[in-house]
Amino acid sequence: MSTFRVRPAQAQDCPDILRLIKELAAYGNAPDAVKLTIMDLLKDGFGEHPLYYCLIAEVPDESQRTGTLTVGFAMYYFTYDPWIGKLLYLEDFYVMEPFRGLGIGSETLRKLSQIAITTGCSCMNFLAVIWNKTSIEYYTRRGAQDLSSQEGWHLFRFNRDKLLKMANEK
Ligand code: COA
Repeated sequence: MSTFRVRPAQAQDCPDILRLIKELAAYGNAPDAVKLTIMDLLKDGFGEHPLYYCLIAEVPDESQRTGTLTVGFAMYYFTYDPWIGKLLYLEDFYVMEPFRGLGIGSETLRKLSQIAITTGCSCMNFLAVIWNKTSIEYYTRRGAQDLSSQEGWHLFRFNRDKLLKMANEK
C-alpha cells in the first residue's frame, strides 16, 4: 500500500490518538496503565501552550465516516539540554500491526527529522524498553545511538506521593 498519509494531528484526532495510545500500552503488556482521557489530550495538546504534538498516519477506508482510518501516530514534544539546547523528544511511536512494514514508520521518522531540523533541534531522543528487540533493531538500523549502553544513563522517577512528601518538607 502506497496511499498512506502522515500529517500533523488536529483536535478531532484525539479519540484516535487515545485508541492508539491504548493499543501501544497493550503491546507493552500494560493495557490498564493509560489513565489519560480524550479531554486531557485535547486540553494538553491543542490549547494555547501545547505540551505535546502528534503526527498521525492514515489510510483510505470507505467504511469510516471520514473516509480514512488512523493507523499510526508519533507523539513528541520539545525539551532542552543545557549542553546542546533544544531537542525533539519522541515519546510514543506506533503503527497498527496490519499496517507495519509498509514504510509508514520510515515516513513518520522522515517527517519528525524535518521538524527537528527546521525547529533548530540538535537531536531526537527517545526510550526503547529492553525487551523490545524489534524496535531497538529498527532504530539501530537507522543509525540511532544507545546512550544507556554508551553513557550508562538510568531513567529515574519521583512518583506523586514522593513529590507530595518533598513538597511538604519543612
Ligand atoms: N511488521 C513489522 N515490520 C516489518 C513487517 C511487518 N509485518 N514486514 C517488514 N517489516 C520490516 C520492514 O522491512 C522494515 O525493515 P527496515 O527497518 O529494514 O526498513 C521494518 O520492518 C518496518 O519499517 P517501516 O515500515 O518503516 O515501519 P513501520 O511502519 O512498521 O513502523 C514501528 C515501525 C516500530 C513504529 C512499528 O513496527 C510498531 O508500531 N511497532 C510496535 C510498537 C513499537 O515497538 N513502537 C516503538 C516503541 S519504542
